Amino acid sequence: MPAPITILGLESSCDDTAAAVLRDAGGEVTLLSSLVSGQSDLHAAYGGVVPEIAARAHAERLDLMVEQAVAEAGIALSDIDAIAVTAGPGLIGGVLSGVMCAKGLALGLGVPLVGVNHLAGHALTPRLTDGVAFPYLMLLVSGGHCQFLRVDGADDFTRLGGTIDDAPGEAFDKVAKLLGLPQPGGPSVERAALSGDPARFALPRPLLDRAGCDMSFSGLKTAVLRARDTLVAAQGGLSEQDRADLCASFQAALRDVLAEKARRALSGQGDLTCFAVAGGVAANQILRAALEGVAGAQGLRFLAPPLALCTDNAAMIAWAGLEAFRAGRRDGMDLAARPRWPLDHRSPALIGSGKKGAKA
Ligand code: KG4
Ligand code: ZN
Repeated sequence: MPAPITILGLESSCDDTAAAVLRDAGGEVTLLSSLVSGQSDLHAAYGGVVPEIAARAHAERLDLMVEQAVAEAGIALSDIDAIAVTAGPGLIGGVLSGVMCAKGLALGLGVPLVGVNHLAGHALTPRLTDGVAFPYLMLLVSGGHCQFLRVDGADDFTRLGGTIDDAPGEAFDKVAKLLGLPQPGGPSVERAALSGDPARFALPRPLLDRAGCDMSFSGLKTAVLRARDTLVAAQGGLSEQDRADLCASFQAALRDVLAEKARRALSGQGDLTCFAVAGGVAANQILRAALEGVAGAQGLRFLAPPLALCTDNAAMIAWAGLEAFRAGRRDGMDLAARPRWPLDHRSPALIGSGKKGAKA
């Protein structure tokens, strides 16, 4: 039986500073602690994440998060056997803050360092939460990312398609903003949509006419803007019902696109163990139900990790680091912070850059 390993995970690639401690005792994995310190209050006035403010806040908070995660895990720093850290993709200042902190800890404690791809962290989460076996299909859908990944191994990902512009979370946030609803937009649009008519506005279902699994959401957001402006011009403002109907119609369009692209991504894969989702947008009940329906129609298990492990966190980084560590991967003091780091080396890079940094 391999010796037990206690691994510390660090995450700082966007606007959450996170630290977690994971123990693997001969295959028995226990998450001892997982702490996340969000920064939305620091960026609220700017309408988006300000990279310099984020980087400084990460640098200030990482030490404290590590101290708290270690204390909550009931261990001492000297019990840590390896450090896993997000080395990209993400906002470069934040990634650098995490990588420098991890290097200092690894050097000071004399333990190995493992650089982790943030997207791999999300994509491998179903293995931490449910022990899912390879291969499976993952839809990563958040404020910064949207891609279908076939996962064949801890370092073997095939991107079947992704957004060519905005991520769905970004679209939710922008729609909320243009309807005067609070941020983050996802939950407020979902709430407003509950009393709305999804059929009132005929919004586009972008790229459904194009083969494959690539997606586009920026035109959908613009269509909501146009519908809003038409209403405002005609009646001088928006009623609560108009807002609810716009939200419901937007959500229905997004649902139709994601469901159809998921159906295409799943068809012909044959041997999958499940269809899993991750990312903040996976919290949406309408989208979740549609995706679950697509999986069910193909006789596949559908899996959505608990929300705290769906959104940015360090437990997923510790887990992905553990998988890499078990496979013998070690990084040196020359570990680089990477703003872009595609998971699938064979596919062309996704174009564009979201409000939270590079797409991949
Ligand atoms: O994964 P996440 O916490 O952060 C990153 O983007 O990395 O995702 C945040 C995004 C935001 O854009 C937020 O509006 C969206 O997830 N979101 C939702 C819901 N809850 C959060 N979108 C739709 N429906 C929700 N219930
Ligand atoms: Zn993320």
